[in-house]
Amino acid sequence: MTKVKKVKVKSSVIKVFKFIGILLCVFVIAFLFYRHEINTITKIGYSEQSSNYILFHNLKKYIQSVGENKTLDAAFSSEYYKFEYLEKYRDIKYVDHKHLIKNINTLIEKGYSISNINMIFAHGNDDDVSAFAKRDKVKYLEEFYSVPYAKLRNYDRYIAYSDETGEDDEETVLIVNLDLDKEDYTDYTDVTEFSFDMLVNKHRKLSEDFVPNDLVEIEKPYSSSNELYTNKVVLNAFIEMYNAAKNEGYGLVINSAYRSYEDQVELCDTYAKLYGEDYVRRYVASPGFSEHQTGLGLDIGSTSVSIFANSKEYVWMQDNAYKYGFIMRYPKKYIPYTGINNEPWHYRYVGVKIATYMHENNISFEEYYATFLDD
Ligand code: DAL
Ligand code: ZN
Repeated sequence: MTKVKKVKVKSSVIKVFKFIGILLCVFVIAFLFYRHEINTITKIGYSEQSSNYILFHNLKKYIQSVGENKTLDAAFSSEYYKFEYLEKYRDIKYVDHKHLIKNINTLIEKGYSISNINMIFAHGNDDDVSAFAKRDKVKYLEEFYSVPYAKLRNYDRYIAYSDETGEDDEETVLIVNLDLDKEDYTDYTDVTEFSFDMLVNKHRKLSEDFVPNDLVEIEKPYSSSNELYTNKVVLNAFIEMYNAAKNEGYGLVINSAYRSYEDQVELCDTYAKLYGEDYVRRYVASPGFSEHQTGLGLDIGSTSVSIFANSKEYVWMQDNAYKYGFIMRYPKKYIPYTGINNEPWHYRYVGVKIATYMHENNISFEEYYATFLDD
């Protein structure tokens, strides 16, 4: 009797174990299958979280036909994802913004087309787009934002400026981006970093204690007086230019170079007393707003004639200065951008690449900056 019971117990235990074994096998097979499916999707370029969503919402085939798409990946992992916008997400170029999906939804709901939305994202950071998405749908989006460097945050100023002046879209964007729609010396940008492509003008100010990198004294015969200083690279470029000019029979000399904030205060006072405030407004930058404080500006003269504009050196410089990285900074044609009257003698070192581009394309440094350097 006891023997039979034992056998019975054993067989039911075996059955339980068998059942558990089968369950485990099923579970392992299911898990392996699940991992295989997830891996297939992550290999296409989707995150684990997105891959789970794709798998459990039967979107694997769709994703396999679309391929890698970073906007879709962001959408599947976002709490703001809306299934009805799936195809729209697919066609929106990915940008690395925290509120990308939330902002896409809002812009779709405001009635913007996909190409409009792509345009909006191409012209602002996450904060700019978030602020823009809050406003009513705007007009003239395509007009202003076809200009590559137009800024979303400047939209109202573009409208105001073009309404007021009737300027075309491209010029409006340029003027507003350079803050030329504002009064001189007001609401300016602080410039803190030294670089050879830095822009300082009546809307971009250096602090009182800003001193350029690598100032060196300019020795004679390159300078006309003692204690003139400029940046080391600028001096070397000038010496190269000086020698080239000399070999062709031209005599260049530096009359003014680096000026500290205090030097500029003094200069403004002196010129105001001599010639009046209007002269200062037209020819002398207020302290902090002078390119001379960058150590990159040089007032150049001729060794033969006292008025540089009448010299043969002036003509030579027009054709050759860019080869050494210098540009004439304040010609008459650029007054609308520089706010400084014609100064044939004032040259600025920007490096050969920028100087050559400006020379070949006939543009001011302000235009170059707005097009290529402003962020
Ligand atoms: N004369 C130039 C504009 C200056 O003062 O910086
Ligand atoms: Zn100057």
